[in-house]
Amino acid sequence: MQTKTIRIGILTGGGDCPGLNAAIRAVSKSLMINCSAEIIGIQDGFLGLIERRVKPLNYEDCSGILSQGGTILGTHNSASPFNYKGVDVSDKVLDYYQSLELDGLVVIGGDGTLSIAYEMSKLGMNIVGIPKTIDNDLMGTDRTFGFDTAISIVTDALDRLRTTGQSHKRVMILETMGRYAGWIALHAGIAGGADVILIPEFDYDIDEVAKACQSRMGDQHYSIVVIAEGAKPIGGQLTVRETKDGGGDPIRLGGVANVLKLQLEQKIEAEIRATTLGYIQRGGSPTAFDRIFATSLGSYAASLVANKQFGKVVVLQDGQLCSTSLKEVAHKSRIVTNEDSELASALSMGICFGNPDLSTKLHSLK
Ligand code: F6P
Repeated sequence: MQTKTIRIGILTGGGDCPGLNAAIRAVSKSLMINCSAEIIGIQDGFLGLIERRVKPLNYEDCSGILSQGGTILGTHNSASPFNYKGVDVSDKVLDYYQSLELDGLVVIGGDGTLSIAYEMSKLGMNIVGIPKTIDNDLMGTDRTFGFDTAISIVTDALDRLRTTGQSHKRVMILETMGRYAGWIALHAGIAGGADVILIPEFDYDIDEVAKACQSRMGDQHYSIVVIAEGAKPIGGQLTVRETKDGGGDPIRLGGVANVLKLQLEQKIEAEIRATTLGYIQRGGSPTAFDRIFATSLGSYAASLVANKQFGKVVVLQDGQLCSTSLKEVAHKSRIVTNEDSELASALSMGICFGNPDLSTKLHSLK
């Protein structure tokens, strides 16, 4: 008697990030090898389920893609079955999912995509999630893949900016991505030897930042400042690049490095230059760490699918791969807190966060 093979869909949603192809490869090959599964690639995230665009993936499709950036499936960062051009089409998406005769769906995404996955799972979809984002801000996991590559790129940029800072005796400001979380700026700032790190979690006092830059200009004649796109001055506003339908709701942040440059120019006598790294942080080949991590998450997700453990997300907690419920991850985000160990290390190294409350915390550590 022929045993029925399982049919599993896979999609990547949200912004692209290094390691997506490694995760697609791991899920697909692992299920093909161990369960003779048929894999159905859904194109452009949830948009592919809305617009009914899928393509079967075979073993060859998943070969030779480990080191490639982007996603072979395509992605979309805002398509939602609950609001497609203003209409809730979740029932039609569910019908389509059922018509595909899928036993389950693997969703690789960040907070937005996994929140949609959670809502669809409540309607009856069998979903296993895999966390990705350069921002590292997903609740329930200590890490997301893509983050390591992003901080390597930012660290490399800081090394390069340092040479110009040193040669011209300038204050060099670098703006990172990260939306409302400061993980990229914090980690890359430490790795790149920043003098000042400004993150969304702690609003900055421009006088503190100016004092730190002035002091570094005095003793080393240049200064390196890392600022996350979501950082803002105490009592000030977010720097928004684009709003939803031209309204007040920010959909895209960016430009804060130039805002800081103008603020600092009022306070210190130094040449200041601002650089915004932007999408460079999301592009290109994943680091070895992200390749391994995305492979581990993908093969763990495959084992959850094979064991019909749906409604789960594969996560890293205390150095161990495990799973948590989609509910735990959905509609939340994880930000840097003042209990964070890297933050404590940075403070003890004298890195300025521009926030008087954190300086007080440093004194209390002494
Ligand atoms: O979430 C990843 C991220 O790169 C953020 O750091 C950034 O704010 C955002 O995506 C930019 O997204 P988009 O692709 O919509 O411009």
